[in-house]
Amino acid sequence: MAAAAEAVTEVDATNEEGEEEEQVVNPWEVSAGKGGIDYDKLVDQFGCQRLDDALVARVARLTARPPHRFLRRGLFFAHRDLNEILDLYEKGEKFYLYTGRGPSSEALHLGHLIPFMFTKYLQDAFKVPLVIQLTDDEKFLWKNLTVEETKRLARENAKDIIACGFDVERTFIFSDFNYVGGAFYENMVKVARCVTYNKVVGIFGFTPEDHIGKVSFPPVQAVPSFPSSFPHLFSGNDQLRCLIPCAIDQDPYFRMTRDVAPRIGYQKPSLIESRFFPALQGENTKMSASDPNSAIYVTDSAKEIKTKVNKYAFSGGRDSIELHRKLGANLDVDVPIKYLNFFLEDDNELEHIKKEYKEGRMLTGEVKQCLVAVLSELVARHQRARALVTEEMVDVFMAARPLPNMFG
Ligand code: TYM
Repeated sequence: MAAAAEAVTEVDATNEEGEEEEQVVNPWEVSAGKGGIDYDKLVDQFGCQRLDDALVARVARLTARPPHRFLRRGLFFAHRDLNEILDLYEKGEKFYLYTGRGPSSEALHLGHLIPFMFTKYLQDAFKVPLVIQLTDDEKFLWKNLTVEETKRLARENAKDIIACGFDVERTFIFSDFNYVGGAFYENMVKVARCVTYNKVVGIFGFTPEDHIGKVSFPPVQAVPSFPSSFPHLFSGNDQLRCLIPCAIDQDPYFRMTRDVAPRIGYQKPSLIESRFFPALQGENTKMSASDPNSAIYVTDSAKEIKTKVNKYAFSGGRDSIELHRKLGANLDVDVPIKYLNFFLEDDNELEHIKKEYKEGRMLTGEVKQCLVAVLSELVARHQRARALVTEEMVDVFMAARPLPNMFG
């Protein structure tokens, strides 16, 4: 493991005045300096690799389909050993996908959808199995929720995840409270014995006041990276490689996992990591469950989306129309453009909007109108798909069952 990867997850960023600020990115806290998150510094500090154009082209070639817009636009921007997965895939070997969600709230915001939309694309493109972990135990330990409530939220969140379109013949969704035990638990204690208290404090920044539930949790999120944790899926296939799509906030868990894996005879998981979908107020604020106006939720109505975008989305447009026509918008801080970058599929249309807006021919109101149309359509489609997800479907996805055609 590189020395950089062992460091705590705090990065010094420099603001416009040249003052040093602390940028904190870990699974529980994402706070940027004034100019937003410095992703370049993050890659260097975490010791991951940049996902360059050549790798994106290779994914497109191997899957014989155009790369997802999140790849084309550098929104998934970092990785760990993705090339090794592709090398094996090129030789005809398969792998499996692993991702997850911490069920702390009823409704997902658009940021939470990013890894799931992307994972759905990867599953379709590579035709591989997928395990999705719902860390109800994590949210019990970190939030003021009862066990029953986290279990209920896990099932509700599973419906939103299923609505993203995963293939039931290739997907196993599990909640920790229901599934942890047996081979999964054996792997947890194998991992736990390899990680000292000092190490876990170094990686996650725990303090002496933190309860031991937090300190002991990381192995739970680590072991779905190992196929032997799922005997009903991968029995006899202990060296099958794993690829984890997530935002970069989850990286600390998997730095730890990759450090331990060879010591217990397992393959290191590979990762493909995204930037953060920003809050409506901009890159240096956080989407927060306690402030419904900081984010668009998958439960929002078209009217709510319109109000939120028009009222709260931070604009890079100028103060007066005259000034705007003269100077054009500052796209670097403009939230509607950032949101369109994630969700407007048509590259030509996106480029056209950016150009017109940057050169002052398009006004903020017009860009926001376009964003409202894109998001209302996306959220309405999600709501229609979710309404079709029944309790029985959740039971099927969450049953520990063999998936006979998972590589087919
Ligand atoms: P959670 O529930 O905080 O987040 C779920 C997934 O969404 C990603 N994410 C975002 N992506 C883009 N923009 C954002 N603003 C944004 N906010 C969150 C997260 O990176 C995550 O991929 N401990 C985890 C659950 C988990 C998990 C995993 C996640 C268990 N195993 C394996 C990824 C991979 C959690 O609480 O995620």
